[in-house]
Amino acid sequence: VPNGLAKTPPMGWNSWNKFACDINEQTVRASADAMVSSGMKDAGYTYVVIDDCWHGERDANGFIQADPVKFPSGIKALADYVHSKGLKFGIYSDAGRMTCGKRPGSQGHEYQDALTYARWGVDYLKYDWCYTGTRNAEEAYALMADALKASGREIILSICEWGTNKPWLWASKIGNLWRTTGDIGDYWSGKREWRRGILDIVDENEPLAPYAGPGHWNDPDMLEVGNGGMTTAQYRSHFSLWSMMAAPLIAGNDIANMDAATRSILLNRDVIAINQDVLGKQGRRIRRHGDLEVWSRPLSGGRTALLFFNRGAAAAPVAVRWSELGLTSARPKVRDLWAHRELGRIANGHSATLEPYGVAMYTLTP
Ligand code: GLA
Repeated sequence: VPNGLAKTPPMGWNSWNKFACDINEQTVRASADAMVSSGMKDAGYTYVVIDDCWHGERDANGFIQADPVKFPSGIKALADYVHSKGLKFGIYSDAGRMTCGKRPGSQGHEYQDALTYARWGVDYLKYDWCYTGTRNAEEAYALMADALKASGREIILSICEWGTNKPWLWASKIGNLWRTTGDIGDYWSGKREWRRGILDIVDENEPLAPYAGPGHWNDPDMLEVGNGGMTTAQYRSHFSLWSMMAAPLIAGNDIANMDAATRSILLNRDVIAINQDVLGKQGRRIRRHGDLEVWSRPLSGGRTALLFFNRGAAAAPVAVRWSELGLTSARPKVRDLWAHRELGRIANGHSATLEPYGVAMYTLTP
């Protein structure tokens, strides 16, 4: 993308998965506070993003305003607060007449809205696709990208048209990330109307690996870690898979009130380092037998990330031979990224017994 942003997948927090339309400035401020006090900021989380339903009416001149009840201090003051914590600030709009939550969309107001966002100090725009009628997606997103550029501020553009127009084929020169699927749900598997479980999203997003790279990422949607619908093992798997897939790591839970298990997942620096590897190559599933999968991801410095993944409800052993991974070293140094332990140099390959719905994840260093 010409804007030069998001060299590694964006990291941050977004209000939608937990709060949906039930947001206000206190929630956003508390989340910004928590990003710092929880250690998330130090671990790399940067963007605090307000999703749908922050909007009020347009004024007489067509300028968008915040909902005066939920955001009485205005968006500029909120952005200033987020910036004062050393974080970056994001907001949400839609390429159609209305947002998905029926707030005013940006159609016909693209340059005016981009200018407003820049004045407010917005650093990240998530741009949705509801109520777009017969609009052409590439054109609509390119128009907003141009408007953001013309605003003179560096703003990440997050394309949210759910993969319906195959954005991986055209969006890498327009936006920094593009959703590849319908909305994530806080559950393991299956389609529920517009929602998808973790497994469904993984299976849709995995084959798109060739389209991702520095500055332009596949977005399998925001994290559900900590939202209560899945087990700790399932959340660990969710976070590991998103890291293998070079997905944006946008926490979607109530980070001001999270438990220790949630924190230890979102703050796993070993796994985050895989997600943020500067080579920027999305990992692939290299083998699947029933519920058991082996994934690998090439990393900078000739290293490789390895993931064992168990989709099923029964504990099971899984193994890999180094020859399957095309390693340059016969005896790589192995680090276990959930145990946070060096296993030393290991010849031939490795195996592990996975808990139900669980993972084991490693870095292999030549
Ligand atoms: C769509 C998007 C979600 C969220 C909602 C807000 O469903 O895919 O991520 O932004 O709209 O209404």
